[in-house]
Amino acid sequence: MIDVCDILDALRWHADVGCDEAIGDEPTDWATLTARPMARAPSAGPSAAGGAPGSASGSNAARGPASTRAPTPAARPPAALFAPDQPLGASEAGIQARARAGEAQTLEALEAALRSFDGCPLKATAMNTVFADGNPQAQVMLIGEAPGEDEDRQGKPFVGVSGKLLDRMLAQIGLDRGKVYISNILPWRPPGNRSPTQAEIAACLPFLERHVELVRPKLLVALGGVSAKTLLNRAEGITRLRGQWRSYEVAGTPVPLMPMLHPAYLLRNPIAKREAWRDMLALQQKIIEESAK
Ligand code: URA
Repeated sequence: MIDVCDILDALRWHADVGCDEAIGDEPTDWATLTARPMARAPSAGPSAAGGAPGSASGSNAARGPASTRAPTPAARPPAALFAPDQPLGASEAGIQARARAGEAQTLEALEAALRSFDGCPLKATAMNTVFADGNPQAQVMLIGEAPGEDEDRQGKPFVGVSGKLLDRMLAQIGLDRGKVYISNILPWRPPGNRSPTQAEIAACLPFLERHVELVRPKLLVALGGVSAKTLLNRAEGITRLRGQWRSYEVAGTPVPLMPMLHPAYLLRNPIAKREAWRDMLALQQKIIEESAK
């Protein structure tokens, strides 16, 4: 007969080698992976560990004994996710998503359509659908990458450690969740906070695009590389894209979009807060200009 202590020991062993996901796209030899330990990173959602700024590669440090964590097998160079010859939204799931999202005339209808959409396999492994937080009437809409562990549990974007930093950054320029609206490229947490695949992004993007159309923000902020590259359809990394106002078209109207470093990246690289501060000031200035219009 199996002893409960043996079961607990086995569970503990799995946790100790960093194996905290029972379901993945590919079989994973966690013992081999953990032979390459990574530095501890706080639970900060996607892109919380390793990888280029704002990219989701090597982003498996949101949970468990981080000193034993290693890049997930799904981690890949972000550029491969955004091959220009593979337009996002061309997949069958993307086409279905576009049709469903396009029917939604209100945010409530869009959220209901998203919750009933089964075209993205991430839904099966996530605890919650993370739709949005904040004020949909706000001038500014921030778009992150995907829910992390805390967001998945609570069903709200940016409620973990990186969310706390985001709140502090917003507070520096007089903003809070009542004055901004927040969502993500993906509404479901990738297992182990691995990088989203292009297929997952393609399946979910039509919902986000419709989301932005319905909210009609005056200003957009893309948090991190995955968000910036997806929204701008660009291959460059976030360090190249950030710091300059770009343009995102919402139903034929260009909306200024500022790509910024992801708060999870800033937690790992506090020196980069200088750049983030500059970008926050640019956002503050733009809000003043928009309000004067
Ligand atoms: N990181 C993100 O990009 N989004 C969240 O909601 C949380 C962490």
